[in-house]
Amino acid sequence: MSDNGDKAAIGLIGLGTMGSALALNIADNGYKIAVTNRTVSRVAEFTRDAGDLAKNLVGCDDIASFVASLETPRAIILMVPAGQAFDDQIEALKPFLDQGDTIIDAGNTNFHDTRRRDAALAAEGFRFIGMGVSGGEEGARFGPSIMVGGPVESFTPIEPIIMAIAAKYQGDPCAAHLGPDGAGHFVKTVHNGIEYADMQLIAEVWGILRDGQGKSAAEAGALFDRWNEGDLKSYLVEITGKALGSVDAETGKAMVDIILDRAGQKGTGRWTVIEALGLGQSASTIEAAVGARSWSAVKDVREAGAEILKVTPEGGASVSEEDLAEALLAARILAYAQGFDILTAASETYKWDLDMARVAEIWRAGCIIRSALLDDISAAFRGDMPKGRLILAPAFAKRLIAGSAALRRVVASAAMNGQPTPAFSAALAYFDTMRQARGTTDLVQAQRDFFGAHGFERVDQPGAHHGPWAMNPK
Ligand SMILES: NC(=O)c1ccc[n+]([C@@H]2O[C@H](COP(=O)([O-])OP(=O)(O)OC[C@H]3O[C@@H](n4cnc5c(N)ncnc54)[C@H](OP(=O)(O)O)[C@@H]3O)[C@@H](O)[C@H]2O)c1
Repeated sequence: MSDNGDKAAIGLIGLGTMGSALALNIADNGYKIAVTNRTVSRVAEFTRDAGDLAKNLVGCDDIASFVASLETPRAIILMVPAGQAFDDQIEALKPFLDQGDTIIDAGNTNFHDTRRRDAALAAEGFRFIGMGVSGGEEGARFGPSIMVGGPVESFTPIEPIIMAIAAKYQGDPCAAHLGPDGAGHFVKTVHNGIEYADMQLIAEVWGILRDGQGKSAAEAGALFDRWNEGDLKSYLVEITGKALGSVDAETGKAMVDIILDRAGQKGTGRWTVIEALGLGQSASTIEAAVGARSWSAVKDVREAGAEILKVTPEGGASVSEEDLAEALLAARILAYAQGFDILTAASETYKWDLDMARVAEIWRAGCIIRSALLDDISAAFRGDMPKGRLILAPAFAKRLIAGSAALRRVVASAAMNGQPTPAFSAALAYFDTMRQARGTTDLVQAQRDFFGAHGFERVDQPGAHHGPWAMNPK
């Protein structure tokens, strides 16, 4: 930024959970930051509670004084809910801005909105950055993973601040400019989709341990703790161990046992699935996870189903803890692979030229899906990768082959015991489909041509072909 004397290097609007944490992170890294908030009383409260960091905070009670307190050209982070609230905030801000000032959307915004705003604001002479921030409140405060999209020249002035506040993986900042317009928010959306899948896979393991093997939450938690020492090492496995080991102070029961089995969702998982389908892809493991949350919401139907749809499953062999660990690792790889397939398709469609290895690298610390796998994934993208597919990269093909027997046993055993494993089942179906050089879509094509004259390709001649669908005389 230019030298503007005593002015703040950057501004932030929206002192909610994420905005407060991000502002403190920026102040903690030695940058002076101006802050303001819709509910004005929050500003004084925030600066009062900031302790020593208050010296780097400029609390402002209105937009005019907020904008006036910033170095020019200005850079302003908006950390308010995505959608109309965000558009309203931009409109409220614009009259106070000058051409060349930059608005940074650090929320979970749909990348279509980011593309629209990027074009509209550029036409008015403003700069716009769509910036995905992952890691929850803790990440925002002490180092998130940051996925930046927008014109690179808009990012350059704020790059030192973003690199300073990002999580570090062995000293490497987990932040990168990934591409123009909506690239950053799209990568963040797919990140969240993978997060949904990983959380669902872990929850399905919990279901097998609890309902199939009679394990208590504490026993299951100890298993996740152990797994976190090995190939499954990851933030989500780590917090699962801790969550399962936690006890409700009121009842003395395991926390997880007193929580209603009904999950909410904010939209990014669903967006991932919608975009995947729009791009001609199928993120089936992520879709299974999104669907499982929707099914969880109809608790009353499930309670009725437990009474009405009574069946006695045949039963199957119980799976070992080793099988569960290997299956979880294989399915996790397949979920990541589907996520990267969507990124590849979007990168081609929107001409983003995403660097997949770099995407994997900036997910290695600070974000919710950080795991030991990501270092290997980035190495795979930098190496030999047939068809650009992670599942075909030698190191991952080897791991999937090794884990596939356990994955199959987990899915088969759960099915025979009547336990739902939608994400595991979807992962296995994807794996088996990608191993099938000749599938069964020949018949689908036949049906399509039969009823709708849609045409088909032949295995032995080029061009488009049709029936006739005359029956052979018997
Ligand atoms: N929480 C997470 O773990 C997480 C992680 C990554 C990304 N995100 C994203 O970060 C963004 C902020 O999330 P959050 O969890 O910090 O939300 P939050 O705690 O609910 O805070 C929302 C902030 O936006 C302000 N706000 C709400 N409606 C507004 C409006 N119509 N006009 C102006 N300001 C308005 C609020 O001001 P008041 O004080 O006046 O209500 C508050 O400062 C969202 O896009 C979210 O999806 C969240």
